[in-house]
Amino acid sequence: MATVNVLVAFYSRNGSTEALAQAIAEGAKAEGAEVVLRRAREVVSQEVMQKAEGWVENAERMNAQYEAPTSADAEWADAIIFGSPTRFGNMSSELKAYIDSLGGLWFQGKLVGKAGSAFTSTSSVHGGNESTILSMYHPMAHLGLILVPLGYADPSLFKAGTPYGASTVSGQESAPPTPDDLEVARFQGKRVAQVARALKTAGETSTNP
Ligand SMILES: Cc1cc2nc3c(=O)[nH]c(=O)nc-3n(C[C@H](O)[C@H](O)[C@H](O)COP(=O)(O)O)c2cc1C
Repeated sequence: MATVNVLVAFYSRNGSTEALAQAIAEGAKAEGAEVVLRRAREVVSQEVMQKAEGWVENAERMNAQYEAPTSADAEWADAIIFGSPTRFGNMSSELKAYIDSLGGLWFQGKLVGKAGSAFTSTSSVHGGNESTILSMYHPMAHLGLILVPLGYADPSLFKAGTPYGASTVSGQESAPPTPDDLEVARFQGKRVAQVARALKTAGETSTNP
């Protein structure tokens, strides 16, 4: 069975997207994948960060735990799963800055044919979770990733998440994801690892008759 490498590249300020990222990693690992979790770094000054309660402390905690994502991570991966909290119905500028840094790989076509998927966190129920995931689909299409949505391919999708990708609603108090949200996230990790393995195996078969 082919080994698959999965990159989970996310941004999180208060921890809910981070919790989904960990559940996704768990699901992919249970499928036999090698997984790296990377947190995109802030793009604003410390002065701006200090204005939001807990931002500096949370960033320090997560940055000690997760390296920043690099181009080499994306090249290593057979599947890339992007995660971002919603920012006005869109992905965060922190994750976008990482994706924009992949321009060199895009130019060389290095990411074409890898599996790609996305997940998000919002504070309100209809606060733009699906539009945020779709905003991550846009660069994935340009990079040539094979999009892996979830559909309703698992019973957990009838209770939580979206057919576009896992999601959670953190509310005003930064509530962690529910067990149902985490189940969808684990399924996402598993499904992406399965698709990446199938793509990799097909690629190996076609180049080695
Ligand atoms: C600048 C900004 C814009 C935001 N825009 C939205 C939004 O459009 N819809 C929404 O539901 N939440 C919005 N939020 C809230 C976050 O997306 C939400 O708190 C999310 O759960 C945070 O994820 P995290 O815990 O991983 O940081 C916004 C937050 C900020 C700081």
